[in-house]
Amino acid sequence: MADEEPALDLDLSPEAFRRLGHQVVDSIADYYGTIRDRPVFPGRTGAQIASVFDEMLPLEGQDPEAILKEWEEKVLPNTTQLGSPRYFGFVNGSGTMMGVLADALAAAVNQNVGAWKPAPAATEIERRTVRWIAEMIGYTPDCGGLFLSGGTMANLTGILTGLRNLADYDTTPEGLQSPRRKGRFTLYMSDHEGHSSVVRVADILNLGRDAVRRVPSHADFTMDVEALERMLDEDVKRGDIPFCVVGQVGSINVGAVDPLEAIAEVCQERGLWFHADGACGAVGAILPQKRDLFQGLDRADSITLDPHKWLFINYEAACLLVREPERLHRAFSLTAPYLRGTLATEYTGQDYHEWGPQMSRGFKALKVWMSLKHWGVEGYRRLLARGVQAAERLDRRVREAEDFQALHAPVLFIYAFRYAPRDLQEVAEASPRQRRAVDRYLDRLNQRIADEIQLSGLAFLMTTAVRGRTVLRLSICSHRTTLEDIDRVFEKLRELGRAIDKDERPPLAAG
Ligand SMILES: Cc1ncc(COP(=O)(O)O)c(C=O)c1O
Repeated sequence: MADEEPALDLDLSPEAFRRLGHQVVDSIADYYGTIRDRPVFPGRTGAQIASVFDEMLPLEGQDPEAILKEWEEKVLPNTTQLGSPRYFGFVNGSGTMMGVLADALAAAVNQNVGAWKPAPAATEIERRTVRWIAEMIGYTPDCGGLFLSGGTMANLTGILTGLRNLADYDTTPEGLQSPRRKGRFTLYMSDHEGHSSVVRVADILNLGRDAVRRVPSHADFTMDVEALERMLDEDVKRGDIPFCVVGQVGSINVGAVDPLEAIAEVCQERGLWFHADGACGAVGAILPQKRDLFQGLDRADSITLDPHKWLFINYEAACLLVREPERLHRAFSLTAPYLRGTLATEYTGQDYHEWGPQMSRGFKALKVWMSLKHWGVEGYRRLLARGVQAAERLDRRVREAEDFQALHAPVLFIYAFRYAPRDLQEVAEASPRQRRAVDRYLDRLNQRIADEIQLSGLAFLMTTAVRGRTVLRLSICSHRTTLEDIDRVFEKLRELGRAIDKDERPPLAAG
């Protein structure tokens, strides 16, 4: 007797899908049409937002129309507008419209780019796009590489590739537990601007966070390479095994670019892995006016470059490039019977699960591939140049003002500065004790300004610490930001600074 099959066609009909899909596209188009005027930050507490989503697990299915309505009513109003021209938080790109379409298309075919067979076209698009990114920034297009979830994972993959290839015993079978390990593996990055993701990498690799050695930096926040050399000598004498130097290419607080050529030279002489953390800034190498800054990038053994930052691609999209592809393969190659095919025509090219840490992988490359095609390198050049111009404009406004203090020259698109009324600067100059009191107050004041501008909805920016002081910081990483946006935000910061200072300044008599 034939089994009776329950009716389980839960898919939407093509007509229903089309109708809902059109609604979604309309909603996105309306969103983009109003993005410039939307409050950048919802300005509600965590508890308020949590309560919006406080509901029971749905045991029975719900009406798709009602689900989409929740997007409009619950999700959008409680969303931070990373696509706003006045969103300057973290280092978050704004997301391209082409990327939205690409993500929908990629989701439709639901490829698993862990291997070629479940993703033949996607594999080729990823290989091609990685090559394009290398070519754009003047790296060898014959490099290996892949897309990953973020800069942290790209740094992890690059640094592990270095360790696997340079350790004086084969770390693949025994890892760090081998009796052949003669000392502590160490890696190096600049003290002020080195990114915390590198510490995370040491953590995940079980090297220990202390394995990340902090190299002193110059006044312009770039690595002091002579100090690096001294540190390497001392560490080797002590029995450590240095294996990697991480050069910052567009650092997190001030956008500094380390002296890449000099780092490459040291790494070459000493047989160390040179990993360039260009998560934020490596793509700046496409700007002819910035060419000198990137001298030596082509000598890096591996480079992190995040398309979800300064290429404005929708989350998630990070990219790792490795100069010699075989070294990446050597670090990650691992197979199993269920991963192999048996056809005579078996594919012998790149199965991505053997070239990186992930097995199942999404089709991230499509949004990068489509966005690059849409704007071309020339379009990106113009957008990046405007980002640099915006940081320079902000720097000029800060330097011309009585009540702001510049902290560094703008390098790329990240700029940090301080609200510091002139009279307070004068009080600070009177004595070290006064300076400490003023600095503590300015720390609080700058934090309050950043908090208030977030709550105002006009712009989203955050503070960071520069040489131990709390300062304002803008990451101008939106392809929509205009110079007028920068002026508006600068004026608002000044207005807030004045108002808060008037209300909250403690007695700070000049000494
Ligand atoms: C210099 C640098 N490296 C790495 C990262 C980590 O990237 P992600 O947040 O994509 O993991 C960041 C993040 O801002 C960064 O600025």
